[in-house]
Amino acid sequence: MSPAMAMNDERSEDCHAIESEYHKGVKHLYEKGYLHKVPKKYMFPASERPTKSMDDDSNVAKENLQLPIIDFTDLIGPNRLQALESLANACEQYGFFQLVNHNISDDITRSSIDVAGRFFDLPLEERAKYMTTDMRAAVRYGTSFSQTKDSVFCWRDFLKLICNPLPDFVPHWPASPLDFQEVVASYAEKTKHLFLTIMEAILESLGIMEEEAKENDNNNNNNNIMKELDNGSQMLVTNFYPPCPEPDLTLGMHPHSDYGFLTLLLQDEVEGLQIQYQDKWLTVQPIPNAFVVNIGDHLEIFSNGKYKSVLHRVLVNKAKSRVSVASLHSLPFDCTVRPSPKLIDEENPKRYMDTDFASFLAYVSTRETKKKDFLESRKLPYT
Ligand code: OGA
Ligand code: NI
Repeated sequence: MSPAMAMNDERSEDCHAIESEYHKGVKHLYEKGYLHKVPKKYMFPASERPTKSMDDDSNVAKENLQLPIIDFTDLIGPNRLQALESLANACEQYGFFQLVNHNISDDITRSSIDVAGRFFDLPLEERAKYMTTDMRAAVRYGTSFSQTKDSVFCWRDFLKLICNPLPDFVPHWPASPLDFQEVVASYAEKTKHLFLTIMEAILESLGIMEEEAKENDNNNNNNNIMKELDNGSQMLVTNFYPPCPEPDLTLGMHPHSDYGFLTLLLQDEVEGLQIQYQDKWLTVQPIPNAFVVNIGDHLEIFSNGKYKSVLHRVLVNKAKSRVSVASLHSLPFDCTVRPSPKLIDEENPKRYMDTDFASFLAYVSTRETKKKDFLESRKLPYT
């Protein structure tokens, strides 16, 4: 019996021929014509599957809930104070916002999504050159979250690129498509700059970046953190979600939080990203050329819990594939993340242990990570 026939048949067990191909990614299975049904390996337990907003007992928020929109021109112009208030509000209430009117041109954002999509269009042999389970590799192509540990696979393929320092890493990135390195390097540079500008505003919104502190450069914690972030880590993650015959049974990404300070995400015009808001799932409407910005675990730790990383997940759909490009930023890999001393006092005791990348990597490489469990493991008991 051919694999395709097996998939047309009962779903009782995924056939071995297909199983041996899972690690090559969902796009590959899709192209081979294997996916008439969602294979068992990709079926989430009923309680974790997406539910429809039509159901009465749905855990999906109604359409009228919108993610806060921050206008970048306000943030760097005469309306800064008001914009900082909206920013603080967005960070506290949602942990997410959409950033519009930023200074990265449509041309650059469009070509970045486009070249990422064209990379996934390459023949598998070309993409497979970058398949590795080494989490420190400069380039890593893979599927699901961790194909060696996930018991249920996510409907997602990815390409991860380490970016800092750029000149050292770009030559290791894929040389095909021909314009890949140039487009993505320019995108990485621009998003890094934007990240730093947003971080300055976030520090100010936390009340720990006053004017005099900016001038008084030496021995100042905030300037140190800005300097560290300037030299910090950046990873680009391009995600590809092929169409799915039964999108109600699986997820493009399971609920997770991001590890760094901030993630800047570009999504194409196909919706799919959902964030958890007041125990409901809220769909993030794609806005052309806007960045979806979210708080990561390291900023939750640094802000001593004032701004929290928020769970998010990705739905897939029957009709269209979807591409997104996420830029994850944090301190240099050898730095320690700890709550800012300025946010610790009697009322707000230190809530998280100091942590570093080594312990994060050790944690994620030894288990199947779920939800925010790494961050939970760093929490100190309330005193
Ligand atoms: C991520 C992520 C969401 C998306 O890459 O961490 O959450 O819409 N991506 O692809
Ligand atoms: Ni994420």
